[in-house]
Amino acid sequence: MIQNIDIDELEKKVNSTIKTGYCFLPEFKWEGDQEMIQSLVASKTKTYSAKHNLHDEYCQKTGIFKYLLPILQTKTKLLLNTSKNFDDIYQITRIVDQSEKGESYRTHFDSHLFTLVTPIQIPKIENSKDSGQLIVFPKIRQEPKNELKNILEKAYFKRYTSERAISKLKNKTKHVEIDLQDRTPLLFLGRQCLHCNRPFHSENGQHRITFLTHFFDSSPKWGLGQINRMLRQR
Ligand SMILES: [Fe+2]
Repeated sequence: MIQNIDIDELEKKVNSTIKTGYCFLPEFKWEGDQEMIQSLVASKTKTYSAKHNLHDEYCQKTGIFKYLLPILQTKTKLLLNTSKNFDDIYQITRIVDQSEKGESYRTHFDSHLFTLVTPIQIPKIENSKDSGQLIVFPKIRQEPKNELKNILEKAYFKRYTSERAISKLKNKTKHVEIDLQDRTPLLFLGRQCLHCNRPFHSENGQHRITFLTHFFDSSPKWGLGQINRMLRQR
């Protein structure tokens, strides 16, 4: 059964996301049990996997398809000043273990307009600054007017893929660091907010698991996002 959601409240939060770059959506929290977590870890063949059936079940049961999707569609028309009806969703399950050092500071913009990060398992790290926190630079750029601008800006921000470079950027630009420890989902503008994760150390060997639900790739068919996904075969 799909849970009931306060639509007006949800719409306000989406408006706030568009205005400030991000917003928390506790209504889409997912109480994944141990069995589910074990099943996710057992099915892991790579860090990122697309269209996991448990991810799809989460979107169905929490009402993401029924309630959040239509609001995002309406707001996207206003945001992009278009009559086009976007409906593409790209579900990625991210499962990281601490041996994956390459997962930190992979600073990037998403190809999709909105990204919902749903924490499934976030191992508690006492007194550590490195628990895979998400670092977000809200609306560090505007929605690119065309694909060439998108590509050039993505290339420009590639210089921030190290701890040192990110530290420098933090000193001069508004940013937030979100540890997701309370497992509240975060909605943000993936194309406008530069983002990356801190390194992740697990004291008890637990994996860090998040569902990344991406909404609407507004780039043309030959755009960077499409090409990247084709190459990765996700
Ligand atoms: Fe991303």
